[in-house]
Amino acid sequence: MIDLMPRLDETSGEALYMQLYRYIRDEIAAGRIPANVRLPSIRTLSAYLGVSRSPVALAYEQLLAEGYVNSRPRSGLYAAELDTSASLEVQTEAAAERSAVSPSPKRAYHASQDEPFRYDFGYGSVDIASFPLAKWRRLMNRCLLPENSRLLLYGDLQGEPELRAEIAAYLHHMRGVRCQPEQIVVGAGTYHSLDLLFQLLREDVACIASEEAVNDGVKALFGQFRFDCRPLRLESDGICLEELQASGAQAVYVTPSHQFPYGMTLSAGKRLKLLQWAKERRAYIVENDYDGEFRYSGRPIPSLQSLDDDGRVIYVGTFSRALTPAFRLSYLVLPPALLARFRSRRHSYDQLASPIFQMTQQLFMQSGDFGRHVRKMRSVYHKKRDALLHAVRDAFPAGVEMIGADSGLHLLLRVRGDKNEAELVRAAAREGVGVYPASAYRLRPESDEAPTVLLGFGGLSETDIREGVRHLARACMENGIFSK
Ligand SMILES: Cc1ncc(COP(=O)(O)O)c(C=O)c1O
Repeated sequence: MIDLMPRLDETSGEALYMQLYRYIRDEIAAGRIPANVRLPSIRTLSAYLGVSRSPVALAYEQLLAEGYVNSRPRSGLYAAELDTSASLEVQTEAAAERSAVSPSPKRAYHASQDEPFRYDFGYGSVDIASFPLAKWRRLMNRCLLPENSRLLLYGDLQGEPELRAEIAAYLHHMRGVRCQPEQIVVGAGTYHSLDLLFQLLREDVACIASEEAVNDGVKALFGQFRFDCRPLRLESDGICLEELQASGAQAVYVTPSHQFPYGMTLSAGKRLKLLQWAKERRAYIVENDYDGEFRYSGRPIPSLQSLDDDGRVIYVGTFSRALTPAFRLSYLVLPPALLARFRSRRHSYDQLASPIFQMTQQLFMQSGDFGRHVRKMRSVYHKKRDALLHAVRDAFPAGVEMIGADSGLHLLLRVRGDKNEAELVRAAAREGVGVYPASAYRLRPESDEAPTVLLGFGGLSETDIREGVRHLARACMENGIFSK
C-alpha cells in the first residue's frame, strides 16, 4: 500500500472525511502520490487508519468529483494526472472548501456526521413512491423468459435497436428532436455518454466553451480530457454570446432548457444565434437536456437539436429524472459526421447499458406506459414545486429570492445578507436539513454572489418539503443569516 500518513484529529471540530480529503488532495497536487498510483480500498484504508468506512468513502467521493482521482472499473481509484497548465480553473482553497461542504448533493449524507439528513434537498432524488414497480416487475420478468435468452449475452454496441426506435419516437414527440434510430447511442448514464462523446470530439476540439457553472461530473470530464475550457458568463437568458464569440472554442457545452444548476432557460433569440455561431465556425453544440420533460409554466420549450439544420448539435438525454437513476440509461443523438466516426471506431467501445434493462425500458415505452408515467410525474413534481415555493414564501422574509423554478426538479434559493454560503449550509445541516452550495459548480470563482443554495425537491414528500423549509428558515434566523 502507498504511504498515507494523515494526521486525523477527532477533536478539531472538522469532519474526519474533510481532513482526509484535504490530506490526499494535497499529496496528489504536490506529486507525493504520483499520477496513476492506486489508492488503497476503502476497507483497507479505514482499517489502517482505525476509522469507520464512511469518512474514507466520503473523502474518496469528493476527490473523484473534483477530478483528483479516477475510477477504473473493477480495479479501484487512481491518482489523476493533474495538468496545472490547463486553463480549466484549479479550484482555490476557498472554492474547494465550499464545494466540500456537501460531499454528494445527489445522495443523502450528513455533511459532518455521516448520517442522512432528516430533510435532504439533494438534487438527484426522484419520487420513488411513484415508481411503477408492478409494471416494471412484470416487464422485466418477460425479458427473462427463455425466448428472450439472447438478452443474457452482449447486446448491440450502439444499444438495442428496438429501444433506439422507441427513444427516437419519444424524443420527437416530447422534445421535438429530429433523428433516426440509427443516430442514437445508448449509454449507462450521462457521464458515460459524455465520456464517449468527448472521445469522438477530441479529434476536432481542443478548446471547449461552457456555461460557467456545470455539474461536477461534467467538470471532471473537462479536466480528464484536458480541454482548454472557456467558462461563459451566465445571464438571465443563458450564456453570454459575446464571450462565446471571443472564445475561439470549437465546441460549447450547454443545458439550454434548464441550466444546471442556475435554472435559467436559453432564450429563443440566443438559441438562433448559438446555432448560427456553430454553423459559421463548424463548431459543435453539446446540448444536455437532462430534465427537459418537466416544465411547469409557459409553453414547453423544444430542444435546440430540433432547430438545427446543419448537424451541429449533439443531444444528450437520460432516463434518470423522468424514471429513475437506478437503471443507468442515457442516450446520445449523434449528427451524421460523428455517427460515421463512432461507427468507424465502434470496436473500441463497449455497450455498458444492460440489454435486460434496455429491453424492459423498450417494452415500457412501447406500451405507452412511459409517456403516461412522465405526464403523471409532471403533475406530481408540479405540486411539490408549488409546495416548496409556498413554504419559502411563508417562512422567509422578502430578502430571499427563488431562481429557476419554472422547470426541473430543483430550484435555487438566494439569501441576501453578510454571511457566506458555507455558513448557511452548516447552519441548515445542524437543523437536519441538507442544502447544497451553488458555487461548488462554478468553473471559476464568483466573488460577490449572495449565498445561493440548491434545493432539490423530487425525492421529498410535500409534507417534508414544508417541514424542511421551516427548519431551514429557523436555522437561518437563529444564525443571523437573515432576520425577520
Ligand atoms: C446536469 C445533469 N445532467 C445529467 C444528470 C443525470 O445524470 P445521469 O444520467 O448520470 O444519472 C444530472 C443529474 O442530476 C444532472 O444534474
